[in-house]
Amino acid sequence: IRDDPETASYYVANYIIQRIKHFNPTPSHPFVLGLPTGSSPLAVYRILVEKYKAGEISFENVVTFNMDEYIGIPRDHPESYHSFMWKNFFSHVNVKPNNVNILNGNAPNLEAECVEYEAKIKRVGGIDLFLGGIGEDGHIAFNEPGSSLASRTRVKTLAYDTIIANSRFFGNDLDSVPRMALTVGVQTVLEAREVVVIILGSRKALALQRCIEQGVNHMWTLSSLQLHPHPMIVCDEDATLEL
Ligand code: GLP
Repeated sequence: IRDDPETASYYVANYIIQRIKHFNPTPSHPFVLGLPTGSSPLAVYRILVEKYKAGEISFENVVTFNMDEYIGIPRDHPESYHSFMWKNFFSHVNVKPNNVNILNGNAPNLEAECVEYEAKIKRVGGIDLFLGGIGEDGHIAFNEPGSSLASRTRVKTLAYDTIIANSRFFGNDLDSVPRMALTVGVQTVLEAREVVVIILGSRKALALQRCIEQGVNHMWTLSSLQLHPHPMIVCDEDATLEL
């Protein structure tokens, strides 16, 4: 628990930097980093970019896998997660474009896209650190309430609450928010060697409480982290209101 969002974000950014440095990645032994979108990780990306520009970290031998992507909007739509990631992070650091993996919500065969994504994760030896955020309903990636805790990368229909929450990025127009997405599964996240989740603000307080003070429950999918051997939640004071 950190006092405010900025301090929490610094903690997460520094933690990621330490993990990458300690791993000492090479082209044949890259560090594999899972990444989220949303407003919560924005400051983490900003700080990682600052530290890269200050020469404190290199992403040259880092392979990334994003958690999710909308279905039904073009890749270059300003609110696609592809656009989000390039705008807020990838364009500003030395990650190799070939090392960036983001699900393609416009793939002709979405199921094959999901199967291939899981296969790619396996081919690089699994994810070393998965950074995540959560929705107000406790979802991790787009694993909405009711998702199987054994789920893998797949097509998911968004919960109405998520459509409302994300409409702020679409001019508050509910009709413009995609109804479906591709997402890694709960099990995909749990298989990462380490999972770090950043949770900021009173908006997430109920979800944080349900996820860590109650039992493992597929209605609050972050609670599955209780099954992980090496999880960490980094939050600000406001997010702890219900604890
Ligand atoms: C979307 C993403 C999630 C993210 C969530 C929270 O639903 N699919 O991965 O955690 O937004 O967003 P925010 O951080 O803006 O509250």
